Amino acid sequence: MLKKLFGLSLSLILSLSYHANAQDIRISTKNNDLILRVGAGKLLYQPYLGKKLANESDINRLGYGHEAYISHGMKDYFSSAIRVVHTDHNPSLELCYKSHSQKQIDKNVTQTTITLKDTQYPIEVKLIYTSYAEQDIIKCHSEITHKEDGNIMLHNYASSMLHFDNKEYYLTSFSGDHAYEVNMSETKLDFGKKIIDTKLGTRANMFSAPFFIIGLDGKAQETSGEAILGTLAWTGNYSFIFDVDQNGELRIVSGINPESSEYSLEANKTFVTPEFIFSYSSCGVGQASRNFHDWALKYQVKHGDKSRLTLLNNWEATHFDFNEEKLSVIIKDASDMGVDMFLLDDGWFGNKYPRRNSTAGLGDWQETKTKLPNGIAKLVEISKENNVKFGLWVEPEMVNPKSELYHNHKDWVIRLPNRKEYYFRKQLVLDLSNPEVQDFVYKTVDDILTTNPEIAFLKWDCNSPITNIYSEYLGANQSHLYIDYVNGLYKVLDKLLEKHPEIQMMLCAGGGGRGDFKALEYFTEFWPSDNTGPLERIFIQWGFSYVFPAKTLCAHVTNWDKRSGIKFKTDVAMMGKLGYDIIYHDLSPADRAFCQRALITYKRISPTIQEGDLYRLHSPYNSDHASQMYVSKDKSKAILFAFNMTPRNRAIPPKVKLQGLDANKNYLIKEINVIKQAKNTTNKKQTQKEEDFIVSGSFLMNFGLDVFLANERSSKVFEITEQ
Ligand code: GLA
Repeated sequence: MLKKLFGLSLSLILSLSYHANAQDIRISTKNNDLILRVGAGKLLYQPYLGKKLANESDINRLGYGHEAYISHGMKDYFSSAIRVVHTDHNPSLELCYKSHSQKQIDKNVTQTTITLKDTQYPIEVKLIYTSYAEQDIIKCHSEITHKEDGNIMLHNYASSMLHFDNKEYYLTSFSGDHAYEVNMSETKLDFGKKIIDTKLGTRANMFSAPFFIIGLDGKAQETSGEAILGTLAWTGNYSFIFDVDQNGELRIVSGINPESSEYSLEANKTFVTPEFIFSYSSCGVGQASRNFHDWALKYQVKHGDKSRLTLLNNWEATHFDFNEEKLSVIIKDASDMGVDMFLLDDGWFGNKYPRRNSTAGLGDWQETKTKLPNGIAKLVEISKENNVKFGLWVEPEMVNPKSELYHNHKDWVIRLPNRKEYYFRKQLVLDLSNPEVQDFVYKTVDDILTTNPEIAFLKWDCNSPITNIYSEYLGANQSHLYIDYVNGLYKVLDKLLEKHPEIQMMLCAGGGGRGDFKALEYFTEFWPSDNTGPLERIFIQWGFSYVFPAKTLCAHVTNWDKRSGIKFKTDVAMMGKLGYDIIYHDLSPADRAFCQRALITYKRISPTIQEGDLYRLHSPYNSDHASQMYVSKDKSKAILFAFNMTPRNRAIPPKVKLQGLDANKNYLIKEINVIKQAKNTTNKKQTQKEEDFIVSGSFLMNFGLDVFLANERSSKVFEITEQ
């Protein structure tokens, strides 16, 4: 993204950049300041991070705070940002300020580069901060270079170090497992270290998502109080260290997980760390989330400003068991429903080792002749005849030992040559640190897209973490593998993006095992979880909503939860990017008609959901209910979702106070997505439509609405329109 900005406004950058001698470096957004100061001995300090200071002169009154990017081996005893061993085995660094520059990239974006250099060794570390004024977002990363005689060894290399001097810190993390992603838990940080990290390599986020919240001076609240929301844009092993020292100071060290990843850096080469992105909010974490969403759609996510495709996927309906005939029926269903696209999932490839289940075929990307005698091309044609676009599942980074690829190219596989192979989902990971493998993966996907130029969408899966870690290609540099793998993947994705800029792509990793803002430069959306049961999805989508905009969260209506009706499932899925993975022709006529109407409704309301401001109104945690709303930027429209999970019989549901509307406007409140009353229904309340009414924004935000029911697995959706 930055590359693009550089390209566009190079002359602007050149004319505005300057090399200041000033000893204070102010990195500002609309509401916040991060201040860095050069102090005694030319060390760089962070005296302030918080709400914007009113006067330049206020800054003079700040002290020094803490050293901004602390190196190992000198006078500090807690977690360091950087640890280097020099060619002469000296394990220390003393980084002093050399220079800094600020470039106005455009009206909203400023880039600050601070160069630090060691006092004894020819090593430089650049700290680069990109601030987005309107969105109150700051991105930071570091770049390390040296001119020593030989390679230096990097042991840690943080993207960012931030310091806080508050009375209390509360950390919210998002952990889980397959089909149980991003469960929120909050813990108070006292003296000592808490680390959230992963070393799964590829399906890196399977147990823990790469973002966190810190509540400052109290637990993080949605609408009040100070909070930091942070994430790392890196599709691999990450680490966040929260270290509280004996004085109660908190430092947060964010970056690639350095475990098993020592990096031997040649002279004159630059080690570039990934971006750590954060937003500070003095009015609750809800605002920080909206900052992230706005920034992501404007600056980071592929096709952030474009609409997404609704779809019907065949995975839950057929798994691997399909042929051209079966798929033709599903494609017709897709057309009858009114979705934009049919998505063909796993199971279409492999001949010598056909992909009948997950044990064979990965790596051999030719259509299985017995299943699809006329290939993908025919399915694209059938889709076209039925007026739906065509999307395809691929998992190009992986290989099954039962495949021709494995037999021909064991040297391309991450595996220990002298040990028994350990499999995760009966597959292994290809060695993307190897340029030949990068070419293979690129060519696999490029061939599919070039042969079938009308493919509109790819679902790019990644079901295995890295196991049996060893790269034949890397030889003596084995500890580079986790990092070189990710950079190799980015090279492939860069080339694909350049050649196929229009293709929309979903990122998937056995559910929500991948999903970060660097990947979203290449992917338009991601699959948050294989668990599509609506009750669980309320929690999962709630968790991911902290940093990711609704447009990027794929949410499908499926048969996972037999106890939930089509309305409840659809209402939950509408809070993200709506899709379906059901046997449509098995639905009752009433449910089919509901799906058709829902898709028409979604077309109308999705701009508000996908591009509006999200307000999390009522948390599903410790509650029987949940509610979220989305408000258009001009506050003329809003969509309100209210869910009843498993309320107890006599529990009195709480009222919901709306947010984000204009207090002085009047709004029409209209219940939508109403299911027509079925005969013999036991759930009358669910099918009774609320009467439309008009009321002021001030009423809605101060008094609130009764939107919850006492019925289990029920929901209501309201369209709110300015009058
Ligand atoms: C993963 C995905 C599923 C499906 C299967 C196919 O588990 O999360 O949605 O695509 O792979 O094997």
